[in-house]
Amino acid sequence: MQVKGDGIMALEWSNELYSTGYDEIDNDHRKIFGMVNELLDGLRNKDLDKAMADSLAFLEIHTIEHFRYEEKLMKDTRCIVCGQNKREHLQFEKKLWNFKSSFQDDGYNRGNLSEFLNFIASWITDHIQKTDIHLRSTKVQ
Ligand SMILES: [Fe+2]
Ligand SMILES: [Fe+2]
Repeated sequence: MQVKGDGIMALEWSNELYSTGYDEIDNDHRKIFGMVNELLDGLRNKDLDKAMADSLAFLEIHTIEHFRYEEKLMKDTRCIVCGQNKREHLQFEKKLWNFKSSFQDDGYNRGNLSEFLNFIASWITDHIQKTDIHLRSTKVQ
């Protein structure tokens, strides 16, 4: 993730940096990147209307579903970061809840939405590169 000025640059997929070797996992990650990018785009160009709330809800559902699938895959393949992966997902989910309750209290505004997207963008790129990437080694066993 690159930050330019006060805005967040779109997430760009790279096989070298992010591919785990599992198509279903990589497709999920690409999809999450795409959703974050759409939201970033929406934040810049559109009104913060219901569409934004729907996209956020969609991102949340897809991300949580992905977590459960990936946790099972890591368990089944005896991936060395299985426990760490679960813990990091849980921390992320807690953070997600905090953001959701602040959205409920304060409503959406450009400030809290860009903070939220900034957090997701840096968390997901960091997490894939440090943790999910260990799935690569389960493929060559
Ligand atoms: Fe993960
Ligand atoms: Fe993942």
